[in-house]
Formats: sequence, structure tokens, C-alpha cells
Amino acid sequence: MRVKTTIFLTIALLSVSNAMSSGEELTKNKCSTCHVLSHPKDMSKLVAPPIMGVMRHVKMAYSSKEEAVAFIKDYVLNPSKEKSVCMPQKIKRFGLMPSQKGNVTKEELESITSWLYDNFPPKGFKGMGHGKHRGMQK
Ligand code: HEC
Repeated sequence: MRVKTTIFLTIALLSVSNAMSSGEELTKNKCSTCHVLSHPKDMSKLVAPPIMGVMRHVKMAYSSKEEAVAFIKDYVLNPSKEKSVCMPQKIKRFGLMPSQKGNVTKEELESITSWLYDNFPPKGFKGMGHGKHRGMQK
């Protein structure tokens, strides 16, 4: 009995830590091709809003992790102007996000969205397009 419980717990713990690291890996593979994960050096080279700005807006619109995660999971597969919580000029500048159907599975999105929610925006982040960045935009 004892041994079985220990084995079960070990496996459970291992899969939790796996899910945690793969959330980061998956985000890097599936999302960061368009959404940069660090503060961009050159805003003019971006093809999509940086993930910290995206997550800031998602969290302003949805206060619980559950709602925020549900929103992202849906948006990634079925993006639309009506659903967007980012500023309208984001869609104007970058175009609507192309659906990632076929590029990312629902299970993968589970790890990605949870990792994003827990790590972004980083502490102290105040948003893009303020202060010195405004001058860099056309
Ligand atoms: C091919 C480029 C591309 C990829 C890959 C991509 N995105 Fe996006 N994404 C965009 C663009 C462009 C926007 C801004 C326009 C918009 O909001 O639709 C955006 C916007 C978003 C938004 C904000 C939605 C809103 O409220 O407007 C979220 C959330 C998001 N992406 C999540 C993700 C996640 C998670 C992944 C990885 C699974 C991902 N994106 C992969 C291009 C991409």
C-alpha cells in the first residue's frame, strides 16, 4: 500500500513539473515566433504585440485565471475583432491574429495559457507605448 502511494505521488509530481516546463517550451515554439517574450529592442520589427502587453490587456479584461485562460484558449483557435481585448490599433497595425488551429492542440494550449498567466506581465511592467516608446512609433 505504502509503496504504491509513494510511486503514485512521484509520478504525479513528475508530470506536474513536466507540464510546467513544457508550458514555457511550447510557448517558445508556438507563440514567440510572432509574440516576443522579452521587452523588444526595436518596436518597428515586431509582427505581433509583445506577450507582456497582450497578457496585461487580458488580465485587465478578465480578473480570474480561469476566465483569462479560457479567453486565450478560445482566441488562439478562433480569433476575431469582436472578441479582442487589446487596443483596436493593435489589430490595425498587425492585422488579426491568424488562427493557430492545426499548429497547436487544446492540450498544448492548456500548458501554454497557464504558464503565460503565471509569468506575464512581469512585475513592474507598466505597458508599451508610453513614455520613451511613444516617440519610436510612427
Ligand atoms: C502568426 C503570428 C502569430 C502567432 C504564431 C501567434 N499569434 Fe497571437 N497574435 C498575433 C497578432 C498579429 C495579434 C494582434 C492582433 C489580434 O489581437 O488579433 C495577436 C494577438 C494575440 C492575443 C490578444 C488577443 C486580443 O485580445 O486581441 C492573444 C491572447 C494571443 N495573440 C495569444 C497567442 C498565443 C497563446 C499564441 C501561441 C499559441 C499565439 N498568440 C501565436 C499573431 C500571432
